[in-house]
Amino acid sequence: MYRFFRPILFLFSPEFIHQAVMLMLGALRFIPWGRSVVKKCCTYQRQSLSKVVFGINFQNPVGLAAGFDKNAEHVNDLACLGFGYIEIGSVTPLAQGGNPKPRSFRLPNDRALINRMGFNNKGVEAVVQNLRRRNPKLVVGANIGKNTLTPNEHAPNDYATCFAALYPHADYFVVNVSCPNVSCLRELQSREQLTAIVRRLTAHRAAQPQRKPILLKLSPDLTPAQIDEALEVIANERLDGVVAANTTTRRDGLQTPQAEVDAIGNGGLSGAPLTQRALEMVRYISRKTHGKLPIIGVGGIMTPQDARNMLQAGAWLIQVYTGFIYQGPMLVKKICREIATA
Ligand SMILES: Cc1cc2nc3c(=O)[nH]c(=O)nc-3n(C[C@H](O)[C@H](O)[C@H](O)COP(=O)(O)O)c2cc1C
Repeated sequence: MYRFFRPILFLFSPEFIHQAVMLMLGALRFIPWGRSVVKKCCTYQRQSLSKVVFGINFQNPVGLAAGFDKNAEHVNDLACLGFGYIEIGSVTPLAQGGNPKPRSFRLPNDRALINRMGFNNKGVEAVVQNLRRRNPKLVVGANIGKNTLTPNEHAPNDYATCFAALYPHADYFVVNVSCPNVSCLRELQSREQLTAIVRRLTAHRAAQPQRKPILLKLSPDLTPAQIDEALEVIANERLDGVVAANTTTRRDGLQTPQAEVDAIGNGGLSGAPLTQRALEMVRYISRKTHGKLPIIGVGGIMTPQDARNMLQAGAWLIQVYTGFIYQGPMLVKKICREIATA
């Protein structure tokens, strides 16, 4: 069905369609049985799919990746599409508009997207208000970042502000230091800068009645030595897991004509060109940590088989974003069916 709709959706800009789809999803709550009908169509429930990871019970391991619902405005609506969990954000302390439009581009020949959104979001206070309305039965992760204008030396304050405000409202946290669209953000993946950020968060967590998991989201462009350094920080600071990976700045091996790719310009590439790299990264991290560190595998999961490969590579949970755009809402159900019957 989505195959017939997709050419029409793809006539419009990705950001326009994103907003239109979110509006339609939101309208479901005003239609009698709207959400329950969609949920019935899109959900595949089996006891064998549920798993406990870092102390949280996930109904299925397929999540919606960060960036889709940055402001947590549609968590309850998106849950109808069969996801086992939703990661909201990236959230920054203050609202910011992000980069000038256009800032999101499709590469249909590569089943890929390039985006340079630049952490556009309504700021942590607005997100907290939205999360107050979330269904408490859903698993919601909060992905946190820093404001673009905050210099890197003050980044720990931004992460700490978001973490403290969101702590009562999210089930787990992801420290995003790997977005290629915020100037110099990826430098925060170095040992010293990462440690400074993470210590602020763990200090806050230590004073809370409930211990909530903190994960690091890494770039697929890191070298093995840089991944090792991040893993050392995770081990030393007793973090709970890793999200591999964010979008890449690489452009090699694309089918899209070079001139078109050049015309798009800067941004993070996601989708099918990332499949192999994300898989290798997850395999590497799993081997390095002897399968003991929880990994959320994300990047280029476009088919149920990609999802299965990611889990076999060592991911404990997975997430989709670009695959959802190209394959449509039934992708989650198809993945769940594949995993359950594997
Ligand atoms: C339009 C867009 C916006 C994104 N925004 C964020 C973000 O705010 N924070 C983040 O950690 N990742 C963000 N991502 C990265 C995704 O969460 C994911 O890591 C990446 O797209 C790879 O997965 P995919 O190939 O399934 O899309 C964004 C991706 C896209 C396409």
